[in-house]
Amino acid sequence: MKKSDYAQWSKAATEWSAEYLNNIDQFPVRAQTAPGDIAKQIPDAPPEASETMESIMDDFARIVPEGMTHWQHPRFFAYFPSNAAPAAMIAEQLAGSMAAQCMLWQTSPSATEIEVRMVDWLRQAVGLPEDFKGVFQDTASTATLCAVLTMREIALDWRGNQEGLSNLPTTRVYASTRTHSSIDKALWVAGMGQNNLVKISTKDDYSMDVDELAKAIKEDRENGLLPAGIVVCVGGTSMGATDNVREVCELAKREGLYTHIDAAWAGSAMICPEYRHLWEGAELADSIVLNPHKWLGASMECSAHFVKDPTTLVKTLAIQPEYLKTYGKDGIINFSEWSVQLGRRFRALKVWFLLRAYGLEGLREMIRNHVTWSEELCARLDACDDFEIVTQPILSLFTFRYKPSDSRVELDELNRQLVDAINDDGRIYLTQSVHDGVFVIRFMTGQFDMTHDDINIAFDTIVEIARGLNSQ
Ligand SMILES: Cc1ncc(COP(=O)(O)O)c(C=O)c1O
Repeated sequence: MKKSDYAQWSKAATEWSAEYLNNIDQFPVRAQTAPGDIAKQIPDAPPEASETMESIMDDFARIVPEGMTHWQHPRFFAYFPSNAAPAAMIAEQLAGSMAAQCMLWQTSPSATEIEVRMVDWLRQAVGLPEDFKGVFQDTASTATLCAVLTMREIALDWRGNQEGLSNLPTTRVYASTRTHSSIDKALWVAGMGQNNLVKISTKDDYSMDVDELAKAIKEDRENGLLPAGIVVCVGGTSMGATDNVREVCELAKREGLYTHIDAAWAGSAMICPEYRHLWEGAELADSIVLNPHKWLGASMECSAHFVKDPTTLVKTLAIQPEYLKTYGKDGIINFSEWSVQLGRRFRALKVWFLLRAYGLEGLREMIRNHVTWSEELCARLDACDDFEIVTQPILSLFTFRYKPSDSRVELDELNRQLVDAINDDGRIYLTQSVHDGVFVIRFMTGQFDMTHDDINIAFDTIVEIARGLNSQ
């Protein structure tokens, strides 16, 4: 393909995308392909000779969409959302055309300076105080890894990176049993080990038991272990579990421990002041992550990572071989020193486009609708004798199960079959979890284009398929 053909094919791709988005509700939400169905359509070896864009685009349209789960589908109620708002898609195309590589200020001054502004716009949008600075990481997993590395290095007086961990005290991190698996993985990757993530049980409201936390820290110190930090959960994945942020952060302050809040999903909802009670006390944390690529439509990958003191993050992650030094420029930020990777994408551009195209009021209205509609569906299922709400809505997430009095199969198995049957049907997409030992079905609203009608379709689909299954 020649550069001179770019406009033609870019236009064709845009037209395809617009058509796809306009008709997305014609697809089953979850891909219905079997493993290997797509791979067998792709040749084993790369082509030696160039191929025409016509044939490449034809193959794309013929092979790819069928094998995709449609995250932009208005009836995507699974996991958490991954929205790509049209304004963000356009920004991605523009950033791609500049082959933006934003590792240092001098490699893309616009990207660095817009990133500083956009992180600050988001900080204001979610109501955090001015003393938080930040960076866009690729994912929340990376932000949490960076925070865990920082807490480890602070606790080890900056000796870990240099000396390795084998002859240093064993560092410990604390989190509730309901936090996301990315916290476990961060400890693996940071070389601290799964056994040094101390899982604290939760109370009736699913928040970390802070008395147990205090006891665990004390016991660890008595046993010669080195407490390093606490990961605070705001909106856990399974059912939205949320810690008492203020209580945990105050304890951390007394104990001299670093705190990182994982608000990967729920953090976006903090643009609505009425939901901020969920992370009341967040201003006391050292580090916070939230994912604009989930609920806000910034498209994968875009995680806002706020830190109170960037110098500790930079001291943990900055490395300056001669070829990366930028002499003679004081006061500039090189964002690669704030993250694990060196090369970085221009993520701030899509946030800039997005926030301007929708405005905070537009985004707030969407989030408020999602929460209201989820609560409405929860109430409708609750009113059915054969359904049970297992956990009440936290923002737009609740869990339920089908519980007919005349079930011929065990209820966990019945609900497992129900999720599969619903997803094979294709009208809606739901995923499951295990809550306190019980198999539950999660329901989460967060898709950018969903409407109130989609809630009616969700209710009808769930009830129809469940009752059909039980009558077989
Ligand atoms: C609460 C929570 N934390 C962390 C993550 C990991 O996010 P990412 O995919 O951005 O690494 C998720 C993913 O859904 C999540 O729900």
